[in-house]
Amino acid sequence: MIIQDFIPQPYPKSIKNGSFTWSSPSNIALVKYWGKKQDQIPENPSISFTLNNCKTTTSLSFSELESDSGYSFEVFLDGEKKDDFKPKIETFFKRVEAYLPFLKDYQFKIETVNTFPHSSGIASSASGMSALALCLMSIEKELIGDISQEDFIQKASFLARLGSGSACRSLEGDLVLWGKHVDIEGSSDLFGVKYPYEVHQDFQNYQDTILLVDKGEKQVSSTVGHNLMHGHPFAAERFKQANTNLSAMVSILKDGDLDAFVALVESEALTLHAMMMTSMPYFILMKPNTLEIINKIWAFRRLSGSKVCFTLDAGANVHVLYPEREKSVVMEFIQNELVAFCQKGQYINDKIGFGAKQS
Ligand code: DP6
Repeated sequence: MIIQDFIPQPYPKSIKNGSFTWSSPSNIALVKYWGKKQDQIPENPSISFTLNNCKTTTSLSFSELESDSGYSFEVFLDGEKKDDFKPKIETFFKRVEAYLPFLKDYQFKIETVNTFPHSSGIASSASGMSALALCLMSIEKELIGDISQEDFIQKASFLARLGSGSACRSLEGDLVLWGKHVDIEGSSDLFGVKYPYEVHQDFQNYQDTILLVDKGEKQVSSTVGHNLMHGHPFAAERFKQANTNLSAMVSILKDGDLDAFVALVESEALTLHAMMMTSMPYFILMKPNTLEIINKIWAFRRLSGSKVCFTLDAGANVHVLYPEREKSVVMEFIQNELVAFCQKGQYINDKIGFGAKQS
């Protein structure tokens, strides 16, 4: 597929108004996306677990406009009008207009609800942008008349990527890869694909408990962060390393090598933060409690032989990853030793999920 393939033929059908609703999950990267080229093309491939409980539900209502007067839309979060969300959506509409030529023909109402608290420090851009992309695709499906499920999801992922890179990994489950990788057939910089190779039983029901260490506003937006990889002294090596790590991940996932998984995933998380600490300007997004948790996890693993590990996003919260069979032991450990480091003792239990759903 090339970019031009996503520009539709003139629509054979018309539709006056309607409404579509999609729920789309968040995802957690194992090999991280950090650094992008123009038009949301990633500098390196990344792979993520799709989550199950952390999700955004978006309803998109639309009605035909009499005259073409630019984009016309309103945004609501939890029933409250959110004008501060408009610039991001306006940018998204501009980026996708060539692929969705109907955008200026309608007036839209975007109503969105997250299952996780807005101020939890959990990014809603992946789940939010993928849910919106799916609603827009539902409109296009009506205008085209018919589209295969595969083409529908692929274009939704292509559009979601233009809203937020990681959003293109939120449409399907349970492992999604985004970015061209020489060893992985079908991989693309333009959209996420379901991981196509064998996955060991041990990875099929992985758990993710998200420890809410700091619920404050992000110190640095991901767009600014990605841009700091331009001219970064370690960028070229980092992008190479991500490719090598993905190759290693293919055999780890197949063999169920949990020790290698732990080492790779934790190294990826710390490398992401190392990139932020060594950019100019530099950032430390971890908090003291992030480090306390990491040290506790390492100590627990040494003592118990557990395969629990951590990963991080561009923030202070810690994702605690573990196989399902360790659920009760790890939950007890979290309750006894980690909850004390969470803001107001808050955490969210999640696990691998299987992608977006229409309702
Ligand atoms: C640290 O997808 O939020 O979570 O494309 O600018 O919207 P934009 O960035 P975004 O970056 C996410 C980066 C990350 C790692 C990852 O999810 O791979």
